[in-house]
This record gives sequence, structure tokens and C-alpha cells, in this order.
Amino acid sequence: MYTEKVMEHFTHPRNVGVMEDADAVGEVGNAKCGDIMRMYLKIDDDIITDIKFQTYGCGSAIASSSMATELIKGKSIDEAMKLTNKAVVEALEGLPPVKIHCSVLAEQAIKAALLDYSKRTGKHIDGLEDFDPNEDAHDHGHEEDED
Ligand code: FES
Repeated sequence: MYTEKVMEHFTHPRNVGVMEDADAVGEVGNAKCGDIMRMYLKIDDDIITDIKFQTYGCGSAIASSSMATELIKGKSIDEAMKLTNKAVVEALEGLPPVKIHCSVLAEQAIKAALLDYSKRTGKHIDGLEDFDPNEDAHDHGHEEDED
């Protein structure tokens, strides 16, 4: 049911933990399953120099957040904004259809952290205009939506 990549990131998640001096923190949840994901970012000159996550949720959510942190660490804010849940699923070499919403949580958590950064610094970030971190991620849980 799960790919080796998913199992590997689930059993050995990367960048897990709390960041005390984060420049931005984003948290999202899924009302249906009750899972919660929090992302901490350290941002220097528009580059995400460090990232940590805490996920209280299923194995797919843990694997998705771990993979998402690897995909955007060292990248620019703009590049992080372009990270879709589909890219996370591809990097994990697939998730079962009923688990796609778990990867959506990772995309949303990063956007929520970037929104927090935008609020703290007053910096405009393209693509966040319509983003609502409190909106239930479950409604967007289809890969096709992200094309
Ligand atoms: Fe809810 Fe995976 S079952 S995030």
C-alpha cells in the first residue's frame, strides 16, 4: 500500500522538531481526520535557510511533511510557493488515493508559514492573496486540482 519512500520518511522523518527562533510559523489542520501540521521557517534574504515541522497525524502526513521540508530547504520563498501537494506525492513515489489529502496539509502548512512571514515583515508574497490557512485542506485533496 505504501511506497518505500513513504515508509522511509515515516520511520525516519527529516527536519522534525520545534524551532525556537523561527522567523515564521504556520499551522493547518484537517477537520475530518483531526490531524495537525505545524511548519517553522528560518528565512534569510528570501531564502529558506532552515525548516522544522511537527505533525500530529497519520503516517502519510508525517512522510509528506518530511518530504516537503526537504524539497524547500535552501529554496527561495517564490520556489516554496510553487511547491504543490502533487510534487510532494511524486517525490514520495505515490500515496494511496485516500491519503492524498495528507500531502495537501504539507502544501498548506508551508503556505501558512509564508503568510505568517508576510504578516510579520510586511513583505508581499505573490500567490497568497486568496490563501486561507483556516480553510479545511480536505476540500482540495485531489491531485488534479493542482495542475
Ligand atoms: Fe489526516 Fe492523513 S489521515 S492527514
